Amino acid sequence: MSRILTGIQASGRPHLGNILGAIEPAVALSQKSENESFLFIADLHSLTSVKDPSVLHENTRAVASAWLACGFDAEKNFFYRQSKLAGYHTELMWYLSCVTPYPMLANAHSFKEKSDKLADVNAGLFTYPILQAADIVLYQANFVPVGKDQKQHLEMSKDIAAAFNRIFGEVFVLPEPLINESVMTIPGIDGQKMSKSYNNYIDIFLPEKELYKQIKRIVTDATPLEEPKNPDTCLVFKLYALIASNEQIEAMRNNYIAGGYGYGHAKKEFLDLILSKYQKQREVFDFYMNNPKELEKMLSRGEAKAKEIAEKTIAEVRKTLKFD
Ligand code: ADP
Ligand code: TRP
Repeated sequence: MSRILTGIQASGRPHLGNILGAIEPAVALSQKSENESFLFIADLHSLTSVKDPSVLHENTRAVASAWLACGFDAEKNFFYRQSKLAGYHTELMWYLSCVTPYPMLANAHSFKEKSDKLADVNAGLFTYPILQAADIVLYQANFVPVGKDQKQHLEMSKDIAAAFNRIFGEVFVLPEPLINESVMTIPGIDGQKMSKSYNNYIDIFLPEKELYKQIKRIVTDATPLEEPKNPDTCLVFKLYALIASNEQIEAMRNNYIAGGYGYGHAKKEFLDLILSKYQKQREVFDFYMNNPKELEKMLSRGEAKAKEIAEKTIAEVRKTLKFD
């Protein structure tokens, strides 16, 4: 049995890029019977950037609802908010801080990027990788699926855990990252990487009208409706092809090449495909967003389960440090 663990920041509502690039692959991993999955919302980490508690709360609800909507089985696995187990995460973070060399943190890309404006860097951002290491080793995770951008953080987690083991005694499993290099970068409606930060995302959970508005904003060239079009250079076609079946892709390709088919038609087909393909997910998402008590039930159950594991690890660490 392998323990797979990953954390998701509560920095906004999940978009199509998150769903195809992170959520669906992680749900598929969690469905394998040989795996035990830990999935948590890294709301403590999000505090390094989000300063409005109401926004953080709403994002947390949306992220949790999206994972449940995309089929994460919270009863078989572990599903929790980091903040609800903050005592364990931050206690372990302190112990790990005491074996983390300062230059390792100063070298982190996430910190270095901002080091020309040090006045804007809070201490939480600087020690972010230690909390991440604590998140992982607290549950003795074997594998951590993350995007390429998290590679360095994962190397640091492993080094920090190894330092603790070397200095105080073998307590922690050393985690390995699972980075799927083949996951493509999903483009946003402007052709750049789809990201919350660029405001170029497609939120498949929006009500139909608003979703259509976002889709209508997908950038296209000015080829008139009657003329043939090149599907391979068109962003609408590219996005459609990410979620369509082979037959649907072929049919749209033929329409492009034949002419008499406008970008407006393609956008409408893209909307219809999202609505039909993600119908179930949209319903489940709305259910949890509209029934906060049900969402709370799922999370608090997960938190009780996670607590047992966290407690066990902390007890072992305290024993090693002769604090028990
Ligand atoms: P954002 O860029 O919107 O802030 P995050 O950094 O919160 O997204 O991304 C969470 C995870 O979702 C990432 O680790 C990555 O695996 C995945 N992801 C985000 N954007 C994309 C994208 N455009 N294409 C593919 N995967 C993505
Ligand atoms: N830093 C990760 C991100 O921005 C989120 C995260 C926090 C995480 N703790 C983690 C990811 C532990 C994996 C394991 O995406």
